[in-house]
Amino acid sequence: MAGLARAQANIALVKYWGKRDAAANLPATGSLSLTLAGFSTRTRVEFEPAPGPDLVLLDGRPADAPTQARVQRFLDRVRARAGLSGRARVETRNTFPTAAGLASSASGFAALAGAAAQAAGLDLAPAELAALARLGSASAARSIYGGFVEMDLDGATRQLVPPEAWDVCMVVALTADSPKRVSSTDGMLQTAACSPYYPAWLASAPADLAAARAAVQAHDLAALGEVAEASCLKMHACALAARPGILYWNGVTVEVMRAVRSHRAAGLPVWFTIDAGPHVKALCAAADSARVAAVLAVVPGVFGTQVATPGPGLSLGGEDA
Ligand code: PMV
Repeated sequence: MAGLARAQANIALVKYWGKRDAAANLPATGSLSLTLAGFSTRTRVEFEPAPGPDLVLLDGRPADAPTQARVQRFLDRVRARAGLSGRARVETRNTFPTAAGLASSASGFAALAGAAAQAAGLDLAPAELAALARLGSASAARSIYGGFVEMDLDGATRQLVPPEAWDVCMVVALTADSPKRVSSTDGMLQTAACSPYYPAWLASAPADLAAARAAVQAHDLAALGEVAEASCLKMHACALAARPGILYWNGVTVEVMRAVRSHRAAGLPVWFTIDAGPHVKALCAAADSARVAAVLAVVPGVFGTQVATPGPGLSLGGEDA
């Protein structure tokens, strides 16, 4: 039987950076994210009786060796749980650039968890799908749910506010078209091992999470934007202080950050966040999203902007890819 699933990327407003248990892929800090409409991954999985290496097709082409190995390890867990032994055929398509800091691993492993569980005949509740997705990529657990989502230290994930309940937007400003050089897993392991700021990062994260949760529940955009920018800058400061330092930004990233701040000073309510890559995501009210997209599009070096509204969680089944 084939399994089909679609999941959306999510962008953390309070970041997870560091693992407290690498084998179980448990985060060292809680996190809070917004699932985005439109930035989606669609995945089809089919298990065959014959043994052999899994076939993994990403946007129609065979995946590179590290991705293939990561997917295969993930599917081994699904096979073990379902008592299957044959190889799998995985076809997956993204509607946005892969591995450039646009959270493709989050939507990717959420969709893979859904499609693989379905193909293996496992009937899993959302919490179980989130726990499975987390084994592929911790942030993927958050993409099982739509809207604003929190993940705690035990990997438990829950929706705080559904997508239709708050009219906010994320404007994505694309600042590069090449894949990122340091994966988030390598970046966070190196940060934890070598950054003198890592203990301070861990110690200050719970207060950021509590402030962001309260802001989301109160629909207080200014309070959420303030803590989101602080969490992002702290994560990157911590990574920059590793040896060697990890720098995910390019020059355009910095210019977009400056533009967000200068437009905010001039009265446009907008705040930035940046993941393990060079792109900038700007949080604003839905009513301001066209204006935010327009001002970020003219920052020299930005080659595209995309407005995303809050999106839904994992959906299973549907039309074949
Ligand atoms: O789940 P991973 O391994 O893709 O790491 C995600 C790391 C960040 O995107 C930078 C932060 C987050 O909480 O999503």
